[in-house]
Amino acid sequence: MSKYLITSALPYANGPIHFGHIAGAYLPADIYSRFLRQNGEEVLYVCGTDEYGVAITINAEKAGIPYQQYVDKYHLVIKEFFDKLNIRFDHFSRTTIDAHKPIAQEFFLTLHKKGFIKAAVEPQFYCTSCNRFLADRYVSGSCPKCGADNVRGDECTKCGEWLEPSKVVNPTCKVCGKKPEVRETTQYFMDLKAFAPQLKTWLEAKTDWKPNVKNKALSLIEEGLVQRSITRDISWGVPVPLDEAKGKVLYVWFEAPIGYISATMDWAQKQGKPEAWKDWWFDKETKLVHFIGKDNIIFHTIIWPAMLMGQDKPYILPDNVPGNEFYNLQGRQFSKSDGWYIDTEDFFTKYGVDALRYAIASNSPETSDSQFTWEDFQARNNELADTLGNLVNRCFSFMKKNFDGKIPTAGELKAEDKALLDSFAPVFGEVGKSYSSYRVRQALTQTMALAITANKYVNDTAPWALRKTDLARCGTVLNVASRAIINCAILLYPVIPNTALKILDKAGVHTGGKAPAYKPYEGSLDNMELGSDTTLLFAKILPEQVAAEVEKLKALHETGAK
Ligand code: MF3
Ligand code: ZN
Repeated sequence: MSKYLITSALPYANGPIHFGHIAGAYLPADIYSRFLRQNGEEVLYVCGTDEYGVAITINAEKAGIPYQQYVDKYHLVIKEFFDKLNIRFDHFSRTTIDAHKPIAQEFFLTLHKKGFIKAAVEPQFYCTSCNRFLADRYVSGSCPKCGADNVRGDECTKCGEWLEPSKVVNPTCKVCGKKPEVRETTQYFMDLKAFAPQLKTWLEAKTDWKPNVKNKALSLIEEGLVQRSITRDISWGVPVPLDEAKGKVLYVWFEAPIGYISATMDWAQKQGKPEAWKDWWFDKETKLVHFIGKDNIIFHTIIWPAMLMGQDKPYILPDNVPGNEFYNLQGRQFSKSDGWYIDTEDFFTKYGVDALRYAIASNSPETSDSQFTWEDFQARNNELADTLGNLVNRCFSFMKKNFDGKIPTAGELKAEDKALLDSFAPVFGEVGKSYSSYRVRQALTQTMALAITANKYVNDTAPWALRKTDLARCGTVLNVASRAIINCAILLYPVIPNTALKILDKAGVHTGGKAPAYKPYEGSLDNMELGSDTTLLFAKILPEQVAAEVEKLKALHETGAK
């Protein structure tokens, strides 16, 4: 048994999130946590909204809403969206809670005391008409590295380069459009280079990391780590805890990952055991796993581990950082402002949550970018309906009708029965390996292969014909098929939890809503009473529905785009 502390990147409380976010950092973490819980592991899965930073202040100002009110709103919107998608955190916190500030300041002070943070005067853009320094996204211009236009002041959206303020070329003020002047201001810089040797040794020992994540991290060290400013001249954020730094706040990317800790503190507090967060963060046995999108790699593999290494307390370091690639929508990035998005309210009134989870997971951007298309969604949904839904439906309704609502007794087993029964243990082994190594696509292919085999078994043995010729044999076949169905449900639980529990209930295996143990079902099925639920698991999606959705998306894009 191990202890797993699992996190998903804290989403900005800056608008609704979309399926692209879900595919990158939330669904994979939820699947992983559910799988671990099925295996009896001790799991704590925390997350929360990231509520400071210029991305938020700019939008709150545009909307004319006070910052706190603005983040309150989106905290709730995002939390409800996760609930709807059945992303089951142990706790969903926020970086504006009281507990966050002191721990973020402690991180800063410890690094400062040890000489890893130094003050320096640097030139920065200042807008004389807005009367303020233009931190991060308050300025836009072109990227000094790749030349892309209209990039933000802190990060090139094209090449991913992390920019120091004042480095963009041809700057303009995002608020008033004027060209800013350069003024000097004092900022605080973190000396990342000091951690390079330690980071390198630590990263090189990570043999089980995804190559894309590990290579990116090592190449960043290779290119040479530079000093990074970790403070800003804005009013919304965690104040820099130094008398001489009045009016400055910590850069959002410095304090946000500390949100993983404050979220755990918040959780502990709510459990009535305020010190319990230390059992996770200070225990060498805890495996800390951060699920993120690829744009967050530098923060989770370099800056955040360095911040942890530089503390005086025995913080653990990330055990793994499964970073995913991007997930787009029909060939381009999800974008509300471009009208290229899916109305999720409407989506969930028409389609099932588990069909969506299955479609995203089957096409998860594990090693390269992937996308949601309506055509693929239809194919995945119908695959579930045809393979799993059909198998469950025809076996269970047949037993309801002909065997008094019970699973018939198994008699003598034939070779084909034994072959199917003997395949369960190896499939659990393979699928388990896939889930543990974040290969959900593969886990699903392996599981669906079992469902296909079980369908074939039922077709070949034809229990509906046997009913008239050999009732005992008919019973044996249905008994074996029922066990295959139950096992498919157990294997699919991490991805489609509600459907899996529904199938188990239908079969008469009542878990009371709890995760079924991850192992082939062992109990006898002889004469087991089937559950009362007879509803269909999945409705097929028709080609005309797909065509209508694609049309709707295009229309939205034409009217939505400015
Ligand atoms: N809010 C950031 C984003 O959406 C992610 C923050 S992750 C954390 O890209 F580690 F900083 F919390
Ligand atoms: Zn301005």
